[in-house]
Amino acid sequence: MGVHEPGALLFSPYRLREVTFPNRIVIAPMQMYKAAPDGKATDWHFQHLAKYAIGGAGTVMTEALIVDPIGRNTYGDLGIWSDEHVPPLARIADFLHGQGAVAAAQLHHAGPKSSRQRPWEGLGPLGEAEAAKGEPPWQPVSSTGDSSVAGWHTPRSMSEGEIQALLVAYREGARRADEAGFDVLDIHAAHGYLIHAFLSPVANRRDDAYGGDLAGRMRLALEIAEHVRESWPEEKPLFFRLSCVDWRPDLDSRTDGWRIEDSCVLARELAARGVDLIDCSSGGIRAENSMMDYKKMRRKLKRGHQVPYAETIRRETGIPTMAVGVILDGPQAEAILQAGQADLIAIGREALTDPHWGLHAAQALGIDPDWEKWPPSYGWWLQLRDAIGVEA
Ligand SMILES: Cc1cc2nc3c(=O)[nH]c(=O)nc-3n(C[C@H](O)[C@H](O)[C@H](O)COP(=O)(O)O)c2cc1C
Repeated sequence: MGVHEPGALLFSPYRLREVTFPNRIVIAPMQMYKAAPDGKATDWHFQHLAKYAIGGAGTVMTEALIVDPIGRNTYGDLGIWSDEHVPPLARIADFLHGQGAVAAAQLHHAGPKSSRQRPWEGLGPLGEAEAAKGEPPWQPVSSTGDSSVAGWHTPRSMSEGEIQALLVAYREGARRADEAGFDVLDIHAAHGYLIHAFLSPVANRRDDAYGGDLAGRMRLALEIAEHVRESWPEEKPLFFRLSCVDWRPDLDSRTDGWRIEDSCVLARELAARGVDLIDCSSGGIRAENSMMDYKKMRRKLKRGHQVPYAETIRRETGIPTMAVGVILDGPQAEAILQAGQADLIAIGREALTDPHWGLHAAQALGIDPDWEKWPPSYGWWLQLRDAIGVEA
């Protein structure tokens, strides 16, 4: 199909290193807080991810997999800090492959946002009530040991020794993701979590080699990319999720905090260390400390509000990008690709409401009128239903 035909790009294959993505749709990483107490994946994760591969997404990404238990957001986070986490993840990757999908995993450390309640329990700090339920709080670690947000646990500033151990944890996490059979790895460096808390001058007040100027603040991110590449196979692509700007209402995004210009500098340095694609998100640094704060937010998000970041990084650096955030339907996704704003499209909440988002996108773009992209176990019957029709 030619590039300018409707629907051509969203359903055209894409290649990075030795991996061919069957189409441009990626299911965004979405934490479920449903892991077993030891961090192992459960049947919940299996069904959650399996249905998206059946539903037409070319690539399905796991939620954040925690590389060190001190970096859990909360209880129920999925782990990849132990070899015992590999078999249930391998079962998921295996099923995705069986549906012809690319299996992607995300590596994560929540840093200053660790030791929190689950979102629907308030997102506040873990406290006595949770301790009484067997889920005690712990002290988080971060770039800097000041209170990230009023009311949250005050993190401890990581020592250089702890940073060295963290680098090994990321390298080991990547090795395990490879052993589980994943084809693509995404490093979560966005949303105010540990790596972002080193990148952003809003959070990082260190005066050693991991703080200060841009080079110092980028150092941890670059060393993590290097360590991950040591154990993540050469033929497999590596993504890096950034908050491309800090996006706080009290900051001028052109001059304060982490800026899009900084993201472009970082993207080039990451690419030099074997990162293949920048996954373009934004915000999250010290922005909110509870669900109440989220609910009070006056801002309404625009469709595709983060797409301009993916576009800028792609244009300024020539590095492939993935767009994410309020991308609602096939025509919108197709328009982003046709305009050259991104190479891949990540879908989060729309997939929660419609696990067949990819298949419906093809129909909305008019390229699957006869249910031929659907698994025949469904599609054959739906075709027949159309042929027979239903009496009005
Ligand atoms: C339930 C849920 C869990 C999420 N967990 C993660 C996560 O594990 N890692 C991550 O990088 N982003 C996470 N996000 C953010 C999404 O990946 C995505 O960037 C965000 O939802 C915006 O895309 P959307 O408008 O398509 O939902 C989560 C979002 C949701 C809704």
